[in-house]
Amino acid sequence: MTDTNIGQVSVLGAGNMGHGITEVAAIAGYDVTMRDVEEDLVADGYEDIKWSLEKLAEKDHLDESVDEVLGRIDTAVELEPAVADADLVIEAAPERMDLKKDIFGDLDAFAPDDALLASNTSSLSITEMATATSRPEDVVGMHFFNPPVKMNLVEVIYGEETSDETAEAAYEFVESLDKTPIYVRKDVHGFVVNTVLGPFIDEPAWMVSNEEATIREADAAMVHRRGYPMGPFELVDLSGIDVGYHVRTEAGRPIPPIMKEKVEADELGRKTGRGYYDYENGDGVDYE
Ligand code: 3HC
Repeated sequence: MTDTNIGQVSVLGAGNMGHGITEVAAIAGYDVTMRDVEEDLVADGYEDIKWSLEKLAEKDHLDESVDEVLGRIDTAVELEPAVADADLVIEAAPERMDLKKDIFGDLDAFAPDDALLASNTSSLSITEMATATSRPEDVVGMHFFNPPVKMNLVEVIYGEETSDETAEAAYEFVESLDKTPIYVRKDVHGFVVNTVLGPFIDEPAWMVSNEEATIREADAAMVHRRGYPMGPFELVDLSGIDVGYHVRTEAGRPIPPIMKEKVEADELGRKTGRGYYDYENGDGVDYE
């Protein structure tokens, strides 16, 4: 059904990015196993995929039925069987290098010798992750944006040892999803997009922490004055406040106090019902 040599895809992580990538790959015709470390996490991710597919079907944006797409998705908790037959593994675990390296070490042991090993990390070093394997030439970055089903761009990142063959196969896979890949040839922290996006997120967070602006003012200014589709706080609530927090911690970057407060209070954005806005008891995003 697809034009690449890839048939079986395994996605490690059922969170925002993991379940979104699983959905996109299944829509494109791939058989996908979505794995997370607990049954509950896998079940939540599966429900989110169902919700999204139903939305797409409602709007006539799906060529098949929801059940046909779901029929290509398997779920798992154990890592070894989840990757045993994979042609491509996409790691979408939390943004901690120690965790990523453990996973890549396991992939080295359990994924087939000819599998492509990709990370959806938003910022961390592909080169360093690849050191956990004996096959760094097969390791590549494949960075999707949230929500994957709606966002067209995917960064394909070379680690220092990534072979052209691996990067090109990753690039072709992204094209087969009907998305637009761009190569990032230098494994710099944040790659291209998040390097550009960093100040968009951090500067208003410092302003709010310093009581120079409110969350609503910052979001309204960027959306209504600058024409961005979402304000910085609204966007981070969508992506998860913890994601950027971990990235900044790993990079040793100063963290705006408002961001730290939210993470410490476990108010991580839409996924916990509350972040910069209150989605459970309040009006959600309300700067309009
Ligand atoms: N699946 C299906 N439908 C979805 C959906 C999903 N995952 N997410 C939202 N929708 C639905 C909504 O429920 C809504 O449906 P409704 O109209 O029935 O209420 C509809 O889509 C929203 O549609 P709109 O026409 O209002 O909005 P658009 O489709 O035009 O745009 C958007 C939505 C693409 C999310 C747009 O707001 C946008 O581009 N936002 C910015 C997103 C962005 O910048 N993402 C990158 C974040 S950075 C990142 O990911 C980096 C990483 O490393 C952390």
